[in-house]
Amino acid sequence: MKGIILAAGKGTRLYPVTKPICKPLLPVYDKPMIYYPLSVLMSAGIRDVLVITPPDDTKPFEDLLGDGSGLGMRISYKEQKVQRGIADAFLIAEDFIGDDSVCLALGDNIFYGPAFRRKLREAVKDVSQGAVIFGYYVPDPRAFGVVEFDSEGKAISIEEKPTHPKSNYIVPGLYFYDSSVVEIAKNVKPSARGELEITSVNNAYLDQGRLRVIPLGDEFTWFDTGSADSLYEAAGAIKAAQRSGKMIGCLEETAFHNQWITMDKLLEHAGEMAKTKYGQYLEALADEI
Ligand code: G1P
Repeated sequence: MKGIILAAGKGTRLYPVTKPICKPLLPVYDKPMIYYPLSVLMSAGIRDVLVITPPDDTKPFEDLLGDGSGLGMRISYKEQKVQRGIADAFLIAEDFIGDDSVCLALGDNIFYGPAFRRKLREAVKDVSQGAVIFGYYVPDPRAFGVVEFDSEGKAISIEEKPTHPKSNYIVPGLYFYDSSVVEIAKNVKPSARGELEITSVNNAYLDQGRLRVIPLGDEFTWFDTGSADSLYEAAGAIKAAQRSGKMIGCLEETAFHNQWITMDKLLEHAGEMAKTKYGQYLEALADEI
């Protein structure tokens, strides 16, 4: 399975902060925002990742993540020249996806929770049947894709930013699809706001009877960090959650856990960041093992 991180948004809701720097590179507490979706893809076992960046803005992402070899991965980059919506990612990534299945993670979505790795692996397994997405309860779902379930818990509709939501379950920015997603995306028509909506892709799978929605219970935490308030809230939540001693979104830890890098490499990363808690965490991890 391939992975895509869509990191091409202008982040206008965070102006002036995002005038000189792309949103997914901003810190969320102690690490860049993009670490969180990347670590989710890695936890799903995805080793080959395409990062879609805004035009002329690939360099800072490359400076941060390189070609992925430091994590035992392959990371490549492509620009989204025109902001055409989330589903455009599959058109940009057509060659990258090829005949493979694919997981798309939005660059500003943060997830964590117990046994998340197991849920992700479940999604990877089930994708052979079509598409797997998640449903997450929020008090006010109007700014998101909203999924409605029937009495047996089966998804029956998905609406993008409805004025009158039919449920409180939103579809967060983590989507698993089989390779037919490229053809499906090619047939998506722009919405009223002029975007190729990911909700249209999900509805196409739903119409074909090939969409599975996995509910994420309230033991899970999800943030869309697109505004100053949610960014601040997410940073506080990560700080609080990490008090348990376990870091969220630590790339080197996940790479080591996946046996993609050696202990020597882990220690090399730790050495580079020895002055920070992040580096000290890696060192402690190596000691523990
Ligand atoms: C996008 C999607 C929406 C999804 C949300 C998750 O919204 O269109 O379906 O629920 O991401 O963050 P947007 O970021 O375009 O407002």
